[in-house]
Amino acid sequence: MSGKINITGIGGSLEDNSSTLALMKFVMDELSEKGADVTVIDIREVNLPLYIYSKGIEPAEKMPGYLLQAISLADGLVFASPEYHGTVSAAFKNVIDHFEYFSEKSPPYLTGKPVGLIAAAGAENSGFATLETMTNIVHSLRGLVAPSSIAVSSANKQVDTSGSIINDSLKRKLSRLAEEVYILSSKLK
Ligand SMILES: Cc1cc2nc3c(=O)[nH]c(=O)nc-3n(C[C@H](O)[C@H](O)[C@H](O)COP(=O)(O)O)c2cc1C
Repeated sequence: MSGKINITGIGGSLEDNSSTLALMKFVMDELSEKGADVTVIDIREVNLPLYIYSKGIEPAEKMPGYLLQAISLADGLVFASPEYHGTVSAAFKNVIDHFEYFSEKSPPYLTGKPVGLIAAAGAENSGFATLETMTNIVHSLRGLVAPSSIAVSSANKQVDTSGSIINDSLKRKLSRLAEEVYILSSKLK
């Protein structure tokens, strides 16, 4: 393994103090500590219009340039969505729909890129359906899901008001995910 790798994290909710965003930032910080160049895309700041396929897939009118660049240059990615009604949030899915721009690229979409997934759910023992959906999304984009991708139940209770994770077991799981994304991205770069 040699050379710096670029990892882009895309996630969060539209809420203040998003626990989803805090979980993703923990993983991104770990990746940065390992030596990756990281870009954190907070879905709240992206502010994309609802995707309309029939209006064309020109990037200039749709995705901001920094987002296109962050996805194009990424050797690996991290996706983080809250669970809304048993699946990903509309805001997260809308960003994914804009990935249609990459259908024309060679190779298309996220071909061969590893993606670590975090599904953050409010209830106990939940988030698994959303994690499965996120897995299907990555497969449809031809990416590779990191095996330690995680469903976080009771997500709001795992993060304090400053965005720090208060559960050591969860921190270990997120660290493992970061490690995996780092290794896979380095090997597949
Ligand atoms: C519209 C809406 C729908 C939700 N649906 C579910 C659900 O189906 N299952 C669940 O466990 N939590 C559900 N929740 C709770 C969120 O998944 C939970 O609060 C999550 O941690 C929110 O992440 P955030 O702090 O990043 O906003 C829902 C919350 C909202 C606002």
